[in-house]
Amino acid sequence: MTIINKLINECDLSDIEFKELLESDIYDDELKSSADRVRQHYYGKDVYIRGLIEFSNYCKNNCFYCGIRAENKSCERYRLSKQEIYNCCDEGYKLGFRTFVLQGGEDLSYTDKDICKIVLNIKTAYPDCAVTLSIGERSKQSYIDYFNAGADRYLLRHETANEDHYKQLHPSSMSLKNRKRCLYDLKEIGYQVGSGFMVGSPFQTTECLIEDLRFLQSLKPDMIGIGPFISHKDTPFKDFKSGSFKLTLRLISILRLIFPKSLIPATTALGTIHPNGRELGLSCGANVVMPNLSPVSTRKKYELYDNKICTGEESAQCRGCLERRVNSVGYRIVTDRGDAKTLS
Ligand code: 5AD
Ligand code: FES
Repeated sequence: MTIINKLINECDLSDIEFKELLESDIYDDELKSSADRVRQHYYGKDVYIRGLIEFSNYCKNNCFYCGIRAENKSCERYRLSKQEIYNCCDEGYKLGFRTFVLQGGEDLSYTDKDICKIVLNIKTAYPDCAVTLSIGERSKQSYIDYFNAGADRYLLRHETANEDHYKQLHPSSMSLKNRKRCLYDLKEIGYQVGSGFMVGSPFQTTECLIEDLRFLQSLKPDMIGIGPFISHKDTPFKDFKSGSFKLTLRLISILRLIFPKSLIPATTALGTIHPNGRELGLSCGANVVMPNLSPVSTRKKYELYDNKICTGEESAQCRGCLERRVNSVGYRIVTDRGDAKTLS
């Protein structure tokens, strides 16, 4: 049995086999076609869309890789008001979005009460929509409150599952232990949880990536977001080179085969390092895209990494642009909440 047939049949491999698959390009064609076959078995040609609302770029953290880290004094900060957030949803709903992702830096000026109010108002106005939060590490009680206010999903990438590597990417005020605690709390509360990691972040090894896969196997998230690391000029990692495009695609396919029913986005970072990155991501097993719904006037300021796409005037309507891109590789965007297929 080939290594890929084994992965398809068992949704798992030994560490040695994963290493072989991750470090060689000879399996790429077979990986891609197998991942696409599995994806089409469960999801057909459907691609789910999520309207991304980047509502604040204030952040208390100082992750070494991130352009909106607190210590970046060149970052021009902004916050959207509640009304501005609702306006984004309003526009998004008309464009066919049935999921809104509220993403921000770790900005404590939005209290738990504020977040609950925003979630409740969106869910009341659009009962047929899912609300996803992506606002970082908070207490279990806060997560419970948001859930009770109506939040359906939560995105929190673990970034790396290796302790030493985590310390190389983050200041000592942050810990992998707390990040994992958050993810398990979110699952226990009942959220549909999304996690993930950067590919090619500084100091990452194949062994780190295998640990990422093992961690995801134990967490069993509904969504897995990965994208290449891309350096940002005003961060401590400004001189590191970007992650590999090919390795990111390879990992998308591997993730599809380990987690056949998962929701895997073709990310903005993937579209930033290659002009057709998102389309190729879809062909390699991804089934979600997350167009930007933020006001064009603030997009450029949410710059996690250099040259992020969809930030200029021409990108006012990512929905239309992405629709054409998705169609160009034979898939179709659907107007649907796009929940993960349940086990069975
Ligand atoms: N390159 C690529 N991805 C990044 N992120 C943050 N900074 C960068 C970067 N420089 C990712 C992190 C975070 C998500 C919102 O964006 O994985 O979880
Ligand atoms: Fe944003 Fe194309 S998807 S400009």
